Amino acid sequence: MALCRARAANLRRMKALVLSGGAGTRLRPITHTSAKQLVPVANKPVLFYGLEAIRDAGVTDVGIIVGDTAAEIEAAVGDGSALGIRVTYIRQEAPLGLAHCVLIARDFLGDDDFVMYLGDNFIIGGITELVAEFQAERYDAQILLTRVDNPSQFGVAELGPDGQVCTLVEKPQEPKSDLALVGVYMFTPVIHDAVMAIKPSGRGELEITDAIQWLIDEGRTVSPHLVTGYWKDTGRLEDMLECNRKVLESLEPSVRGTVDAESRVIGRVVVEEGAVIERSTVRGPAIIGRDTVIRDTYVGPFTSIYFGCTLEDTEIEHSIVLEQSTIRGVRRIEDSLIGKEVEVAPSSARPRAHRLMLGDHSKVSIA
Ligand code: DAU
Repeated sequence: MALCRARAANLRRMKALVLSGGAGTRLRPITHTSAKQLVPVANKPVLFYGLEAIRDAGVTDVGIIVGDTAAEIEAAVGDGSALGIRVTYIRQEAPLGLAHCVLIARDFLGDDDFVMYLGDNFIIGGITELVAEFQAERYDAQILLTRVDNPSQFGVAELGPDGQVCTLVEKPQEPKSDLALVGVYMFTPVIHDAVMAIKPSGRGELEITDAIQWLIDEGRTVSPHLVTGYWKDTGRLEDMLECNRKVLESLEPSVRGTVDAESRVIGRVVVEEGAVIERSTVRGPAIIGRDTVIRDTYVGPFTSIYFGCTLEDTEIEHSIVLEQSTIRGVRRIEDSLIGKEVEVAPSSARPRAHRLMLGDHSKVSIA
């Protein structure tokens, strides 16, 4: 319905601003060296799901805010043509806040409307209808809200009796509601006045919540949209594993690699090109990445093994393993996120001991 109205209206051109800088402290040590937006969910970086949703909504001119991990993001996304978008990179010297990202993107955004998308947010079902509704109605801003159990970890909205937004507070200690801000926002150019008017918050960031509050205080229309579908901020390990589960559950099974006669591949399993499975059991939903070798191993449900890995004589379940890691002789790994080029193997050296070389902020639970 909204889509039809949007088509009928004389549509304004829209851009997208995707935030892919920041620090990612809750996913350390992975984020000491890598961008949190590139952690794969079912073997595809989180960021790519957002970029695809933006493209599917008909928005192809995309600015990506990058910080310290700029090189890695640029290597993964390139000019965007593989995803059907055109990307402009905007460098942010330090993570000074979501509204700061809007401030430094001024030249790129010009006087166009835009959708701002947090690169670590994961939404099932896309944003096509929302973008269409915004284009048709053209509120000054549109925010997405969802009910959460732990509102103090998010921006929180309080709605008035008429259903309109009264206040927005970033990570309040005493939240006035359980309505959290989802990391997708739609703005007209009036947001530029707002981001210039606000001051840094107590944590030293220019908060987008404060900028939107400024719009409300100025009597502008900020339309709230309640999201009932699946949404996650993938900032923490549990959230990554949950998103991984969700995507794997709807995976289209396919075997493009090699599975020997002594192996069993059961249920919803994807075996990518060049992957080799020998004398092993893979019980889906699971995905085995390109050129990965699984030998004498059990891979259990809700597991994603990225490309170029070797797993031998191992049992693993409900976990994500990043590229080019090797795991040998370990029983059993569960609920884990294992970084790139990691090696996990037993030692035969005496005295028998755990010998660890772990990055800062690593977490190890020994059975
Ligand atoms: O996920 C929804 C929440 O996202 C909202 O409820 C909050 O109101 C909003 O402030 C934001 O909170 P987070 O604490 O989760 O934001 P985070 O620092 O994780 O940043 C979100 C994305 O933006 C992430 O991909 C990193 C990027 N970013 C962040 C900052 C602060 C930048 O590119 N530059 C920045 O300066």
